[in-house]
Amino acid sequence: MQHEAILVLDFGGQYNQLIARRVRENNVYCEVLPYSVSMDRIRAGNYKGIIFTGGPSSVKAENAPRCNPEVFELGVPVLGICYGAQLMAQMLGGQVVTPDHREYGKRDLVLTHAASPLFKDVPTETSCWMSHTDHIETMPAGFARIAETETCPVAAMENTARNYYAVQFHPEVLHTPEGGRMLHNFLYEVCGCAGDWQMSTFVQDSIAKIKAQIGDRKVLCALSGGVDSSVAAVMIHKAVGHNLTCVFVDHGLLRKDEGDSVEQIFTQQFDMNLIRVNAQDRFLTKLAGVSDPERKRKIIGEEFIRVFEEEGKKIGKVDFLVQGTIYPDVIESGAGDAAVIKSHHNVGGLPDVISFEALIEPLRDLFKDEVRKAGLELGIPADLVWRQPFPGPGLAIRIMGAITPDKVEILQEADAIFREEIAKAGLDRDVHQYFAVLTNIRSVGVMGDERTYDYTLALRGVTTTDFMTADWYRIPYDVLDHISRRIVNEVRHINRIVYDVTSKPPATIEWE
Ligand code: XMP
Repeated sequence: MQHEAILVLDFGGQYNQLIARRVRENNVYCEVLPYSVSMDRIRAGNYKGIIFTGGPSSVKAENAPRCNPEVFELGVPVLGICYGAQLMAQMLGGQVVTPDHREYGKRDLVLTHAASPLFKDVPTETSCWMSHTDHIETMPAGFARIAETETCPVAAMENTARNYYAVQFHPEVLHTPEGGRMLHNFLYEVCGCAGDWQMSTFVQDSIAKIKAQIGDRKVLCALSGGVDSSVAAVMIHKAVGHNLTCVFVDHGLLRKDEGDSVEQIFTQQFDMNLIRVNAQDRFLTKLAGVSDPERKRKIIGEEFIRVFEEEGKKIGKVDFLVQGTIYPDVIESGAGDAAVIKSHHNVGGLPDVISFEALIEPLRDLFKDEVRKAGLELGIPADLVWRQPFPGPGLAIRIMGAITPDKVEILQEADAIFREEIAKAGLDRDVHQYFAVLTNIRSVGVMGDERTYDYTLALRGVTTTDFMTADWYRIPYDVLDHISRRIVNEVRHINRIVYDVTSKPPATIEWE
């Protein structure tokens, strides 16, 4: 089914994907394309509206990113945000200046023309999030000012005859309380969207499409138990049933009971054709005595591929290989950077060792939050759908130094208590990633009347939007206290607990 769609034209700003997600939250499908995309591609998209994003440049710079001026001849509504607003002003004949002060942070916003379609149901006095140096000094002909702040004369402007709107502030961030309403208004009042992007429809359409594409042929999926591969697998299973085979490699470095729980969900709840490869010994033997983190990653990655290759040989030829690619992996940044894809996030290398006809990527169009919605729609249990990210190399990079089966077990036990208590405290959705790390430090303690000389366990909990930067989560002291007591009492060989209070950067989320 062809959805109505909005184009988010990317000028390299930091909130670009957020704009796209906000549009989709309004049940309108949108695509993010770099500002330099060809006019043919834009015309082919048949968009109902275009949003220019913010960006780090000044429109006055010589090589500032500029879209093709023909965009303004399409007869399609345009909303410019921040840099996008200034660019619209400049390209249509207005004037942008660089004052000697920067406007940054929350500002009072006064609507000077509250009757604008952009401001339907928005109070005349509200606030907005500003982050700019340049501002629009003179509006292009045909435009009228519709909002101002104390220091920004044209905080918003409109040309209702041509359906062009521009806002200097960022409506997509939560610090602009009425921003969601303004985006909604642009989509529905200005672009006339109907709101046909519904997850239930997407899931049903996708299943039908996959069914038609695959027919009776065979599909292979590497299932990790993470959100993306699980949702992709269930969607394909609904379409082709036992023509899908999932291979789940248990490398023995999963969290406590995780292997069994993955197996149980997929075989019992979904009746999937699942091959669980219990390769714990293989992996631990290969890792014996290795303490360098990158070596650990490499060994696990290579061994994973070897195991998969062996399984692939047993299965024989497959027609399709599933990949859990999601939309952020596909977006090419308007700033011209290559898409930031962490190679370790993908099951890299599989296409080389398995012979297959085509890749199938059922989640290619979805943001992470939409993948979760699709998962719930497909009946996947909520605790799996909301599972925090877990690195491919698993506990191997949370055990400092050489890995032994004993250390794996100690960490699994401690980590399970940490996770259980975080959930009990109701924090499991607020802390985006949290886990225990078995440090290689041993220190002196006293238990009963005895001296101990045991491991220090580190706890880490972070909040983040994209895992590229993160802040440490302020877990309440009494929750930490309870966790600490439980772990030292219940898990042998741990006599000291520390909490990691560094953000990323300068630290990373994982310790290795
Ligand atoms: P860092 O430690 O780089 O982690 O701040 C950012 C995010 O990536 C995850 N991570 C990995 N995921 N294989 C993975 O599949 C890896 O080797 C790996 N290293 C880090 C980490 O858990 C966090 O979510």
